[in-house]
Amino acid sequence: MQKNRARPLSPHLSIWRWGPHMAMSIANRVTGGALSTVAAVALVWWLVAAASGPEAYDSFRDLATSWFGVLVGFGLTVAMFTHTAGGLRHYVLDIGAGYELRTNKNWAWVSLFAPTAVAVLLWAYILLRNA
Ligand code: HEM
Repeated sequence: MQKNRARPLSPHLSIWRWGPHMAMSIANRVTGGALSTVAAVALVWWLVAAASGPEAYDSFRDLATSWFGVLVGFGLTVAMFTHTAGGLRHYVLDIGAGYELRTNKNWAWVSLFAPTAVAVLLWAYILLRNA
């Protein structure tokens, strides 16, 4: 058998033409990764701090309410909303709907930007309420 024969490669970033559907697919993967790493650590930290008493909880709260904590919280909210929108879009595609090119592109744009807009509104509400 011939070894080291050039084999066809799966199409990848350099082969597909960029479009909102590709950006949304990547965003779904990146946000899924952020949720299962950064958000998971933050969640465990919050629970452990709550279970460890007032001092530990105070230091968690100090960081969570600092500008850095708010930035991370906002980022994770965008990630959660974007990933959920990407997931719902996936389920629609999985039943065979939404493949017409214009429809597909439009929903990809919506799933990319609407979650960030909703996250901005939510955080504006949270920050203004606590101002
Ligand atoms: C905190 C909650 C969640 C975490 C930690 C999480 C994490 C992940 C991760 C790590 C992936 C794999 C990404 C990749 O490598 O391509 C993924 C994919 C996926 N998630 Fe989530 N997810 C969460 C919530 C959701 C929700 C709420 C939905 C649906 C509304 C959803 C739907 C999906 C779908 C459909 C995929 C597959 C995407 C693909 O095949 O390209 N996820 N998720």
